[in-house]
Amino acid sequence: MRKALARIRSGLKRAAVPAALAGALVLSGGGLTPAAPQDPPAGVTGNAERGRPLFESYKCYACHGFEGETGSPRLVPMTFTQEGFIAYVRSPRTQGMPNYSSVPVQTLADIYAYIDSIPPDAPPAESIPLLNSVLEELEDD
Ligand code: HEC
Repeated sequence: MRKALARIRSGLKRAAVPAALAGALVLSGGGLTPAAPQDPPAGVTGNAERGRPLFESYKCYACHGFEGETGSPRLVPMTFTQEGFIAYVRSPRTQGMPNYSSVPVQTLADIYAYIDSIPPDAPPAESIPLLNSVLEELEDD
């Protein structure tokens, strides 16, 4: 009987068990590992209208520009999936990008939706005349 159970369990592990069943197995002492609590829950839907002011209040614009057009790298066009974006912004393993680990998943999903809604033809920084003249003046000093 034990062997049969073990076989069923290892079969289940391979077969991507639905989360609810996995949870039940964990409670009953089955060997499946629960999803790490910081994993963004699937199925969160972002809202671009809510995301726009959040993009500003969380100061993303300060480095990435109001249209995601500045900074290295640009955020537009957005190449991340929502999940990848949330995971990155919460723990960017880099020096330049601040860590937003305590920002709620829903908030980041809204910010993602906003960035994703920006038309990808926002001009590259080099093509903005005023910015260029400011940069040239700085170089002249
Ligand atoms: C202090 C400046 C700064 C702020 C504020 C900032 N970022 Fe960044 N961000 C960076 C830098 C610098 C990088 C590039 C990091 C690297 O690759 O080394 C980056 C990278 C990223 C990337 C990865 C882009 C790619 O293609 O690899 C995403 C996504 C991102 N930021 C989103 C955000 C969001 C969303 C916010 C606001 C919640 C934000 N950033 C606020 C500086 C900033």
